[in-house]
Amino acid sequence: MTSELIDRFGRTIEYLRLSVTDRCDLRCTYCIPEGFSGFEEPEQWLNFDEIERLIRVFARLGLKRLRVTGGEPLLRRNLTELVSRLSKLPGINDISISTNATQLDRHAQALHKAGVKRINVSLDTLKPDRFATIAKRDSFSRVMNGLMTAKEEGFNPIKINMVAMQNVNDDEIEDMVMFCMENSFILRLIETMPMGETGRNAHYLNLQPVQARLRERFNLSDRILPGGGPARYLQSSDGRFTVGFITPISQHFCATCNRVRLSVDGTLYMCLGQNEKMEFGALLRNGATDKDLETMILQAIELKPERHEFNESPEKIIRIMAKTGG
Ligand code: 5AD
Ligand code: SF4
Repeated sequence: MTSELIDRFGRTIEYLRLSVTDRCDLRCTYCIPEGFSGFEEPEQWLNFDEIERLIRVFARLGLKRLRVTGGEPLLRRNLTELVSRLSKLPGINDISISTNATQLDRHAQALHKAGVKRINVSLDTLKPDRFATIAKRDSFSRVMNGLMTAKEEGFNPIKINMVAMQNVNDDEIEDMVMFCMENSFILRLIETMPMGETGRNAHYLNLQPVQARLRERFNLSDRILPGGGPARYLQSSDGRFTVGFITPISQHFCATCNRVRLSVDGTLYMCLGQNEKMEFGALLRNGATDKDLETMILQAIELKPERHEFNESPEKIIRIMAKTGG
């Protein structure tokens, strides 16, 4: 079936990031401000029936892949049930999850059985005390437990997302490469984005020089990942290690953007770095038919902006990442 989800710039939108909660049990300095009180109230959350219905309509129009995000998605009660329902929807052929892993040891097995085969874990440091400084909570050992449980459970691939920050954790990038090599994890280094006050004050580090340094030091060469999203990847000569660079600031990749984001209250955000959106919460509750939903989805796709303006207008986005779905 040909997709109907093609935007004004010829990009096919086949991927949706679904935020199932904006809450989190950590307070990473670049993400949620300590003491933040602007979380969505539970009455505003889409329930599982509403999510399933909206994604079903999306999938009929051409959506193929889902990523469950947050905040911290494992904080949403009965997440496994939702995932299992979504993984059965016609057209959806890939469902993955991004987690901070604090609760992953308890949920890994059930999630795997429910159809999640791939998982991304946020991990910015291998030092427990530094973890507590960055995430404002002393959860390093729980995260490690969660990660290793996921490895034993057989998730494949497991990607480690490391937000690289100048004078915060940039001295650990090589260590993280070696940790990922040893454990067969794919590493992804991420530049901080100016989302909210926290994102703007986040010790931005340009990853272009880091990329050159790692290429040399570990003898890495370019790797093209089919259907790969925004990351540029490098690979070791034996093919066993891969590192990706998510560089929205130093080298943006908007021309190949294939995604939209649905927040917990049913707002569809068309771009991380722009304010274009379509609100589905009220529609779903006020008797919209599937046909109405289809029409609104297609209208939303028309709104997708060409690119973010993080460099030109770093003040533009006041919502934090946890709200949009990281
Ligand atoms: N810039 C970049 N990434 C961010 N995340 C949260 N806030 C930011 C930001 N300001 C991402 C990190 C983390 C995920 C949950 O959200 O990648 O791993
Ligand atoms: Fe939580 Fe992830 Fe934000 Fe950290 S970056 S506070 S783990 S949502």
